[in-house]
Amino acid sequence: MPQQWVLITGCSTGIGKALVDVCRNYGWGVIATARNLNSLDDLKDGEDLRKIRLDVTDINSIQSAASAVEDLHLRALVNNAGYGQMGPLEALRPDELRLQFETNVIGLQVVTNAFLPLIRRCREGQGRIVHVASVLGRLSIPMAGAYNASKHAVVALAETLRLEIGRQIPVILVEPGAIQSEFRATLKRVWGDLPSRVAGTAYQTVVEHYANKREDYAGQHGMSAEDCALRIFNAMNAEHPPRRVVIGADSFWAQIAKKIVPAPLWEYLLRRMNGIV
Ligand SMILES: NC(=O)c1ccc[n+]([C@@H]2O[C@H](COP(=O)([O-])OP(=O)(O)OC[C@H]3O[C@@H](n4cnc5c(N)ncnc54)[C@H](OP(=O)(O)O)[C@@H]3O)[C@@H](O)[C@H]2O)c1
Repeated sequence: MPQQWVLITGCSTGIGKALVDVCRNYGWGVIATARNLNSLDDLKDGEDLRKIRLDVTDINSIQSAASAVEDLHLRALVNNAGYGQMGPLEALRPDELRLQFETNVIGLQVVTNAFLPLIRRCREGQGRIVHVASVLGRLSIPMAGAYNASKHAVVALAETLRLEIGRQIPVILVEPGAIQSEFRATLKRVWGDLPSRVAGTAYQTVVEHYANKREDYAGQHGMSAEDCALRIFNAMNAEHPPRRVVIGADSFWAQIAKKIVPAPLWEYLLRRMNGIV
């Protein structure tokens, strides 16, 4: 039985699933959680793995997950679950914005509060809270207003939590750029009737541009979920964990560029890259 356990949200696919394997390979026990337990079937059973249903928008599932792991030495929590609600702000439905925040922001904080009492049982400095934000928590792109806003909020939550409890429990903020995962397939499923909603408006070509060009970019140049997971693990496992982990050259350079490029030029470039005339 492993001596230390990490709970990860959103392990059905992508970064979360890859992180399960990395943590197990390095001897950590993993509480792999997902909305749908069947999505964890391909994870090899073992005494270093516990699979639990957890929907970050469902308080009952969060509370029962917390009760189900009380017997384990929980050292770390990785708030990974999230998705991207795309669409121009003008066409965004209030419920779409609400659900984006329920999942990426409020769910993340409710999960954190639910597992903090267990992590507090660790020796001072030994526990870890990891928030997976995004480069889009540091800058905004068109067509992703709801997602940009949610990830900016995650950055603020991580910075605040670190001020409040960081001396006892290090809080690590993860800021990936494009990663190969189910993220883009999901965002196109989630945007539902967006293409017909914007058909015939000035947004039509922007939505089409986003669906074709940006997806290609992530598919061709995105980092693998496994490499991203390894970066997250190394930060979490470090004796002195970093405050921030910027993952991917795109995330690194975009954040530098945002700081040094004059705002009118920055906006011009982003509009051009996104097909906004
Ligand atoms: N991929 C990128 O380019 C990228 C870049 C920067 C940041 N990120 C962030 O990285 C994190 C992981 O994303 P990914 O790239 O690995 O995408 P992914 O493959 O789509 O994985 C997202 C995970 O979040 C889960 N999830 C969504 N809503 C949930 C809910 N209400 N409760 C529990 N789990 C939920 C999904 O579960 P279901 O299968 O049930 O939907 C899935 O397991 C996200 O926070 C994302 O914003 C991704």
